Amino acid sequence: MDRETAVRSQNLADAVPFYGEGAPIPESRDLSAKDDTSGFNAVVILLARSWPYISPQVLGRWWMPGVGVEERVAELIRGRGYSFVYMPLLVTILAVLFPYCSIVPITFEYPYNFLFSLILLAVIFSWPLPNLTGRIQTVSLVLVVLSLILANMIAIVLVEGLATKIYTGTLSLVCLLGWFVQIRIVPTGVKFRVRVGSHLIYYYGLEALKGLGVLFIGLVTAEIINQSVLQNEPLMPGLSALLGYPSMSAEALAVLSEAQRMELRWAPIKIELAWFLLLWPLDIFLLYYIIWVFQRINHDLRLALVDQWHKLSLRHHSDHRVGDSIWRIQSDSETVTHVLKVLGELAVMLVNVVVTAALITILSPLLGFIILFTLVPTFLVARWAMPRFRTRSLVQRIANADLTSMVQESFRSIKLTKAYEAGERSQANFEDDSMIAFNAEYRNERLGFRVSVITESYSAVLIFGGVCLMALWSSTSQPTFARELIALAGLSFVVWNLSAYQWTRERYEGAVGLIVEIMRIWGWAQDVAMGLRRVFDILDMEPEVRDKHGAIPFKKFEQEIRFKDVAFAYSPERPVLDGVNLVAAPGTITAIVGPTGSGKSTLVNLLLRLFDPDRGVISIDGKDIRDFSVDSLRKHIAIALQENVLFGMTIRDNIRYAVPDADEAKINEAVRIACLQETLETMPDGLDTMLGDRGGRLSVGQRQRISIARAIIRDTPILLLDEPTASLDADTEHRVLENLREWAENLDSSKRAIFLITHRISTIRRADEILFLESGKVVESGDHQKLMSIESGLYRSFVRAESGDITLD
Ligand SMILES: Nc1ncnc2c1ncn2[C@@H]1O[C@H](COP(=O)(O)OP(=O)(O)OP(=O)(O)O)[C@@H](O)[C@H]1O
Ligand SMILES: [Mg+2]
Repeated sequence: MDRETAVRSQNLADAVPFYGEGAPIPESRDLSAKDDTSGFNAVVILLARSWPYISPQVLGRWWMPGVGVEERVAELIRGRGYSFVYMPLLVTILAVLFPYCSIVPITFEYPYNFLFSLILLAVIFSWPLPNLTGRIQTVSLVLVVLSLILANMIAIVLVEGLATKIYTGTLSLVCLLGWFVQIRIVPTGVKFRVRVGSHLIYYYGLEALKGLGVLFIGLVTAEIINQSVLQNEPLMPGLSALLGYPSMSAEALAVLSEAQRMELRWAPIKIELAWFLLLWPLDIFLLYYIIWVFQRINHDLRLALVDQWHKLSLRHHSDHRVGDSIWRIQSDSETVTHVLKVLGELAVMLVNVVVTAALITILSPLLGFIILFTLVPTFLVARWAMPRFRTRSLVQRIANADLTSMVQESFRSIKLTKAYEAGERSQANFEDDSMIAFNAEYRNERLGFRVSVITESYSAVLIFGGVCLMALWSSTSQPTFARELIALAGLSFVVWNLSAYQWTRERYEGAVGLIVEIMRIWGWAQDVAMGLRRVFDILDMEPEVRDKHGAIPFKKFEQEIRFKDVAFAYSPERPVLDGVNLVAAPGTITAIVGPTGSGKSTLVNLLLRLFDPDRGVISIDGKDIRDFSVDSLRKHIAIALQENVLFGMTIRDNIRYAVPDADEAKINEAVRIACLQETLETMPDGLDTMLGDRGGRLSVGQRQRISIARAIIRDTPILLLDEPTASLDADTEHRVLENLREWAENLDSSKRAIFLITHRISTIRRADEILFLESGKVVESGDHQKLMSIESGLYRSFVRAESGDITLD
């Protein structure tokens, strides 16, 4: 970097302010909260709409013996004759068996009252699952899942001993088994299928296991330190065996000796180390795993987008900048990976807030009310902030898309930029757009900070007030509120004392904090939803040209191509074609002639169904081309475009772009017809010469002949040549045309029809039929002789003008 550039880039960096706004966002590219069109419901719907892309990673696919893994995504619950009738039976038996064998106690004291009620609920509602459908099934599914989750939470947190945990765990696993392994009874026996690839279930299952492990380690460590190391109590028998200290079991002795106590100090460290060694690989794996799963979700959505892009009409593409498409595919679609995180965190927090708020209300309704009151300012702030989050997210996304377009366009036009020495101007434009993108992002972040300053302030005040109240009650030993309920909920605070104060304060702060946190996450959800909105906006577009219901495949072209009274406009106020009539037969060359902008390219594009006409009919052998499937029609038409598009691959690959498996003979034939041999001979690697970016290493005439060869190799009955010979010298053009004429004559059983758009008189006069187009109308048609004989004909004056009035016949 020389000094000048260094100073310059330093100045550029200064253009980004440390605080405050940078270059303002121009009004035309800005949105205010008033422009917001997606309310709460719209955001929820947008988030929910990502389900089709997430669901394959949840539902997985079926594996069947002899069939392997199916392509299609598995059903949500059951289907196609497969079910899990065995599951409710198994669950019911196990639910009764454990208490019957006294593995879990038969008691209805807290917390078993809750536990058994939940298990009863799960057992009852497991029955409709494999047997009924519709709403009952959905409701049952939700009830079974929720009650099992809660039962497990109670068993893990509130019940002592391992047996009950195994009890609820086993019941849950059996329910899951029904989801994973399904059977179908057929006359010959029982068939089964297994759900595989439910990656999100695996992932969250492993995460839950890890969470349990952490909890378990915490409990064990606390037990060892509090009871044994500090109070000399021997270890519980199970634990002593597990840790490898059988001699310190409560069964072996009543009090630990000093030496044993000292030895036991090391136990927690050993446990932590063992856990770390086990957890570390698991953690790395989980990190990798979830990225892999999310990337697959993102990949599916990206593919859907690109697929849609191929289907959308050219009208759409010419109205949208490429950078916008790139940004939507690359960046907006990425937000789909955040949907689960957002919804998951919101769900956990909501449950948490409701449960803690309920418990605190039992101790003091006033505190419960303050928690509830937190909702008021939060709601007000959310009402103000959410529309702004949405519009700012959109502005930011649009600004970035514009920046991408700018980069893409300026690199495309690098030759022009250099030729006109417009480098500095182009750089300055880029700087402006970059500043706007920065500012859009900055404003979005700043909104987030503002909101958090406000919410932190009022939540701090509410927390302080609540804590003061609790401190006051505790210092005067005030009675707590609902004593009967307190016992039922497993609490033991009858009056406010130090431990009641500590317990409640922790949860109270948590509840108020969570309400604010929920709002923060919901703010994030707005950004996610806006990304999705830009994605679904595209996915929701109806492609203009698509197969109609019952479209038939196009098979053969035998008699004629006919345009009847065809009208078309890109935008309603400016008709491009108006009442075009033409007929073209196989084995003929039809030349389309006319001043620039008269609609020649548009006419051949209509035949390819890049657009459909607004009025009139284009038919092939008497059938409207809209009756054919688009793919099959295009398979039978080849086109050499006016703007010849080449790719940075070898000449050979460029030629066989549309027919990747074309053999050498075909390629050579195409090369011969397009008169490419001489060019190839001058190249060191012949057909294997690599072309630069977009064919940049070739002359325009060479590029045109490659596009012609590419059209020929498709070997279709209809060939459209849109001025591909304009840059060839007259001699080469004639040779190409003679070759084409010969080629048109001998297709296996029938002949080919060629449409040729050109300005060159010597070429035009050899055509069988000439159409003279002006302002979207065919004003004259016939062969050269006929058109020249029209005294004040437009064609005649066109020819005069083109040939400089020299040769006329
Ligand atoms: N994608 C588009 N969107 C809107 N208008 C378009 C589009 N493409 C072409 N037009 C307009 O339609 C008219 C006909 O364009 P067309 O490309 O068919 O002309 P042409 O006869 O092929 O001209 P040329 O000889 O210069 O190639 C022109 O006025 C042009 O401005
Ligand atoms: Mg054109």
